[in-house]
Amino acid sequence: MRRNGYEEKDFLWGGACAANQCEGAYLEGGKGLSTQDLIAYVPVEKRGHMFTIMSMDSERFEAAKKDVEGNYPKRRGIDFYHRYREDIALLAEMGFKVFRMSVAWARIFPNGDEREPNEEGLRFYDAVFDELLKYGIEPLVTISHYEIPVGLVDKHNSWMSREMIDAYVRYATVLFERYKGKVKYWMPFNEINVIRFCPYTSAGILLDRSERPDEEMEYQALHHQLVAAARATAKLREICPGALMGAMMTRNLYYPENCAPDNILLAQTENAYALAPIDVEVRGRYPNRLLRYFEKMGYEICMEAGDLDVLRENTVDFLGFSYYSTSVPTNNSSDTVAGNMVVGKRNPYLPVNEWGVQCDSVGLRVSLHDLWDRYQVPLFIAENGRGFVDTVGEDGRIEDDYRIDFLGSHIRQMLLAMEEGVEVMGYTCWSPIDMVSASTSEMRKRYGMVYVDLDDEGAGSGRRSRKKSFAWYKEVIATDGECLK
Ligand code: BG6
Repeated sequence: MRRNGYEEKDFLWGGACAANQCEGAYLEGGKGLSTQDLIAYVPVEKRGHMFTIMSMDSERFEAAKKDVEGNYPKRRGIDFYHRYREDIALLAEMGFKVFRMSVAWARIFPNGDEREPNEEGLRFYDAVFDELLKYGIEPLVTISHYEIPVGLVDKHNSWMSREMIDAYVRYATVLFERYKGKVKYWMPFNEINVIRFCPYTSAGILLDRSERPDEEMEYQALHHQLVAAARATAKLREICPGALMGAMMTRNLYYPENCAPDNILLAQTENAYALAPIDVEVRGRYPNRLLRYFEKMGYEICMEAGDLDVLRENTVDFLGFSYYSTSVPTNNSSDTVAGNMVVGKRNPYLPVNEWGVQCDSVGLRVSLHDLWDRYQVPLFIAENGRGFVDTVGEDGRIEDDYRIDFLGSHIRQMLLAMEEGVEVMGYTCWSPIDMVSASTSEMRKRYGMVYVDLDDEGAGSGRRSRKKSFAWYKEVIATDGECLK
């Protein structure tokens, strides 16, 4: 038995998805509107910077609520809601041990604060978990992956309000009570540290609804999320002893531009701010540096009596993270690239893809060592992948060697880090099946080993087919990565 109750047995190989990107059926089964249902598709020529697409203001928010005609790809997803049996059978065929998925909060509480949960929504996830367990696949559930019932934004401006803590803990408690025999692995929020880059996506905040400085609002909302996560962790331990709670962040490792001490300091500072929420979740306290920063900026982050105790007493069991790329912070360069979440100076040693994301498999190994040294809790690679445009050959085959190269190079680095002593519980690629992109709402940007015949406008049969990478990943899992060595 290892620390934190995590027992080393089978390495958890699998893949990850999010309800808002795959389920579709956005108003079926009693579901209410969620923040992601309001994100419209923007054609590439009108797109501009990724953060612009992911941001939201009150005017667009109100208009999208009434718009039933527009192209909102997350409303239709890939129809996992109706096709989950077929999809799970494909995951099982690849030999998955774990499937990271999320629950759509608005399926359980359509407006976020009803007196009773929506039984039809609960039944849907019962059916999904049963289907996974039938094949011996462990569900790893993110309680809130980038979506919040719109009713809670209307009432509270979402995580800006302390009321959200109770609403979230009630929702989480319903999940723990209902699924206690079925789900062992939980994560409270997806990528909790990205709130600084996408406050609407991550926390449902409309920045124009308050006079407070944007960054102060983001840290206030983050504090509410951290307290909510800690209180949910306490509930999980009470209701499901033996279940494990894992923090989940995006790991965007910052490299110094060169060995000039000022640049080292700049990269170190960026890394420290990016990790601050995880310091709270794993170590149980805010880092001094962040508290000093609040003081320096004059930010008044309202914390109630008892909050710091709750954070200290309910730290997580493991640390999950998504890994897509690394970046180089710069104060004065025009030669920049947008990473999955942040913009930085172009790193001349790394290739860039069509969406501006640089590929850096060694950075994953660096990150694993860094995080293990800093936190000493088991790590879980909760997302790793890269979007590509796939071409279906005349014979219907998809020869995605680029995906095999990308994932293979990252998995190799993970295996090396493990050989060097880092404890890694599992690896879930993003995403095993093509689904709607979180940032650009495209289908064209594909991550899966299973192809889904749908385009950006929603045209297509929805038919699933196996890409070349499907058989490759199956072999990786069957050999526990040995085939890559
Ligand atoms: C992660 C998110 O940051 O990146 C996922 O947790 C997302 O939801 C993934 O899909 C890939 O990003 P994108 O924008 O290419 O879908």
